[in-house]
Amino acid sequence: MAKDLVFATNNKHKLQEVRSIVGEDYNILSLDDIGCHEDIPETGRTLQEKAIQKARFIKDRYGYDCFADDTGLIVEALGGEPGVYSARYAGPECDAEANMYKLLWKMHEEKDRSARFTTVIALIEGDTLHTFEGTIEGDILEEKTGRGGFGYDPIFRPYNSSFSFAEMSAEQKNAISHRGKAMAALIAYLQRKQ
Ligand code: IMP
Repeated sequence: MAKDLVFATNNKHKLQEVRSIVGEDYNILSLDDIGCHEDIPETGRTLQEKAIQKARFIKDRYGYDCFADDTGLIVEALGGEPGVYSARYAGPECDAEANMYKLLWKMHEEKDRSARFTTVIALIEGDTLHTFEGTIEGDILEEKTGRGGFGYDPIFRPYNSSFSFAEMSAEQKNAISHRGKAMAALIAYLQRKQ
């Protein structure tokens, strides 16, 4: 019988991607599926702490085995900003546009444009915890380039690429991205156990 496993998200794209790869041995449930509509605390100081906090919250409150992801953009010249604050860099009510403009403004005279995206996934099964990580390094562009993707995609170009993330198809981005690598590590682990 398929094993229930919660992915602590309601992002349809992320859910579909994981479901299509893990196949029939796991029944991947969303937060909606388990009736979780409350705000999950995100007070951790690192990506790892935040991912573990989310997975632990679901396990403790709802009893399901669970995994949760957390991603940040880490810019060298800004001492690691926006990091764990990537989603709300320009303020709690701000959107991706405002976040990007704040970052471009802070970087406007900066020569060192190096940055990286990192995703951490925390998996809690029973009483065991595993974490998986994926990183991609690149540069912050001088201006927005491309119309696809989301978040900071239009201002991030991976090293050895002529295109920003926002100029790539979803498949091209997933094949090299932080989240793609972390998900691949999680899925390889789940498949080894089957
Ligand atoms: P989350 O942990 O996946 O919710 O990501 C936190 C924030 O990081 C998002 O709100 C985005 O601003 C940013 N982010 C995460 N993943 C990506 C990505 O693949 N491209 C661009 N921005 C991203």
